[in-house]
Amino acid sequence: MGAYEDLLEATIDHLSVQRARGQRHVTVSPDKIDALFTALPEPNGQYDADETPLGQLCQRAIACKKCPNLISTRTQVVFGVGNPQADLMFVGEAPGQDEDRQGEPFVGAAGKLLTKIIETMGLSRDDVYIANILKCRPDTPGRNTGNRAPTTEEMATCVPWLHEQIDLVQPKVLVALGKTAVGGLLEKEVAITRFRGQWQTYRSIPLMPTFHPAYLLHKQSLAEKRKVWEDMLTVMEKIKLPISEKQRGFFL
Ligand code: URA
Repeated sequence: MGAYEDLLEATIDHLSVQRARGQRHVTVSPDKIDALFTALPEPNGQYDADETPLGQLCQRAIACKKCPNLISTRTQVVFGVGNPQADLMFVGEAPGQDEDRQGEPFVGAAGKLLTKIIETMGLSRDDVYIANILKCRPDTPGRNTGNRAPTTEEMATCVPWLHEQIDLVQPKVLVALGKTAVGGLLEKEVAITRFRGQWQTYRSIPLMPTFHPAYLLHKQSLAEKRKVWEDMLTVMEKIKLPISEKQRGFFL
């Protein structure tokens, strides 16, 4: 662990003790928040001194201060990960606790399932690009655990980073995971059960809406897994990936 992570762990431990003693609020001055910014590590170390357009975009996103409520609770900006020239890009909702800690999208339980889906397609996380609508973990005022969906305002504030990311990666196909991702990209309210499996278009790029892996974890239904897998088979056909008979038959 680096010095930053050591300091973070110590701070979290200290705050946990204060919370156990009944303290509910901590006052932090704007100067301290600014100082913390300069000490932040690069997300996952992957954009250290990266002068590529995506690296530069990441640096700008890291410096964004548009959502003070999110900045005060999140650990770091979770920009995105994967192949900057990927044919296939997955878009999720927002970082959860694991992603916030590790600086990489989809590394928690839902992320592990997404990784399994990607690998079952015959790809690896390094072949695709993965990002979220929100780059910062949504705060949960009054609660210390759990997640909440991004607000419409937070989405509108943050989604321009994703637009720029997509412009730079130029994927052949986008997969939007869940209602928030589909709605955020298409800029409208969607019923995911109605949109799932139906090709949409995002700025001339084919977009496949599917269920979020967290939904599959919660639902634990073979039939719902098959729906997502059929969406992935459709995507594989679109980007001309080979499909074996074994792959066609999963979750039947
Ligand atoms: N869920 C998301 O939508 N994104 C992540 O990065 C992790 C969980």
